[in-house]
Amino acid sequence: MDPKLEKLKERVALAHLGGGQKRIDKQHQKKKLTARERINYLLDEGSFEETGVLVTHRTTDFGMDKEIYFGDGVVTGYGTINGRLVYVYAQDFTVFGGALSETHAEKICKVMDLAMKVGAPVIGLNDSGGARIQEGVKSLGGYADIFFRNVQASGVVPQISAIMGPCAGGAVYSPAMTDFTIMVEQTSYMFVTGPNVVKTVTNEEVTAEELGGATTHAMKSGVAHKTSTNDVACLEDVKKLLSYLPQSNKEIPEKLPFDLRDEVRDVLTDIIPDNPNKPYDMHDVINGIIDEDSFYEIHKDYAENIIVGFARLGGRSIGIIANQPMFLAGVLGVKSSRKAARFVRFCDSFNIPMLVLEDVPGFLPGTDQEWNGIIVHGAKLLYAFSEATVPRVTVITRKAYGGAYDVMNSKHIGADFNYAWPTAEIAVMGAKGASEIIFRREIMASDDPAKKLAEKETEYADKFANPYRAARRGFIDEVILPKNTRRKLIKTFAMLEKKIVESPKKKHGNIPL
Ligand code: COA
Repeated sequence: MDPKLEKLKERVALAHLGGGQKRIDKQHQKKKLTARERINYLLDEGSFEETGVLVTHRTTDFGMDKEIYFGDGVVTGYGTINGRLVYVYAQDFTVFGGALSETHAEKICKVMDLAMKVGAPVIGLNDSGGARIQEGVKSLGGYADIFFRNVQASGVVPQISAIMGPCAGGAVYSPAMTDFTIMVEQTSYMFVTGPNVVKTVTNEEVTAEELGGATTHAMKSGVAHKTSTNDVACLEDVKKLLSYLPQSNKEIPEKLPFDLRDEVRDVLTDIIPDNPNKPYDMHDVINGIIDEDSFYEIHKDYAENIIVGFARLGGRSIGIIANQPMFLAGVLGVKSSRKAARFVRFCDSFNIPMLVLEDVPGFLPGTDQEWNGIIVHGAKLLYAFSEATVPRVTVITRKAYGGAYDVMNSKHIGADFNYAWPTAEIAVMGAKGASEIIFRREIMASDDPAKKLAEKETEYADKFANPYRAARRGFIDEVILPKNTRRKLIKTFAMLEKKIVESPKKKHGNIPL
């Protein structure tokens, strides 16, 4: 072979070997795939085209000029997932522990720039020891170049981060600014400062897993939107998530073929218990409405009093926001408001219609909530719904009380269609609480206050614990039988498909952060 061709072949082969077989074996021992194996699994077979395979770092300090690896610790490029173009980068832990150098960052920025110009999602597979320590500030500059692009790309193309190893220090802020973060259980962690620094500063003893493992971020902090049992499951989760999303904010998500039949779902008829204080699982309502097995839940283990996720309805991708009576009676609190608000804004950015399933007794009371700012956090959800211009439909299954009625995609804040089931109770508050306040004197003066309260409660409930007052005013468009909900919604979303709303011109709003 021509020596010139041989030279290229050799270099590419070296690049493919990353930090060498020993380090690859070590990666496998930790039950982790290598960067290239991950990309090959993620993308359609043979579709990957690599960029920057021969890039090397430029550092000479600390003998680094003798340690050169082609590709410099990150594999970047583009390919397809189920035929759709995506840009991808995967940090290679076998090269300097995947640490980020100036050139490593430049490679990532290049694919991000292309993604924004072309309009296709960016998927980042993170596995890195952080800033390349030998490079100092050049590496920090590289991070900032990525952060800046994360923000420019936000709301333009979907950005998904998979955390498949360490992600510490400044490195955490790129995933934090992307739309979704999926963490692999046991082998990944994220924190701003690690256990050693924590021990020195606060004297707390904590393991890396406790401090920033997948479970911690899925349940406690909400930093992780999803966790996966291993690398392969994580990459499958990325692919599935992508199937609900459009390529960019200029497109709508792919619609699967669908023929409308009667779509009656009898399973929905008996879900709501006779006793309004008895919980039920809102997942049953969701699953009774959507296309079979199509729910992809986001933040499943975080703020479980609200459920958010993607689904398909009549083949169309939708975002679902639903109160969950199984947890804290489905109230809105600090965490649930933030969780839902972020999801609402994502759906709105990327033209994904929203379905709200409402059973909300109000906001969570207490000093903890007030002192942690439920006022501003609740306002986030109110703001997010109010600014959303995608098709928005609400179904009130049971309670819609107080300010939470307004917040949960009421018609007053721009929802397009609001349905209620006959079991809906749309009121300022529950009948008992309301009677105790407005009939207090009458009850106190009575010979049998308990009996009087019960009488008044019934009187109030007869008047307000139903959907008909709201329907008379047009706040509810129609009271529907639960079994007909799926058909109604399929038709409503189809009718709203071409919805256009012109919002007032402004630089950007000032959401209460
Ligand atoms: N810069 C340069 N090289 C780094 C690095 C960094 N930030 N982090 C790790 N490496 C190198 C290691 O020197 C090691 O090189 P070698 O293969 O030539 O021995 C290789 O990456 C693997 O690291 P190692 O420490 O053996 O792996 P581990 O799985 O035991 O630990 C970490 C992984 C990330 C916990 C550990 O490497 C670490 O603490 N790194 C520093 C993290 C940090 O403080 N980053 C800077 C702030 S953002």
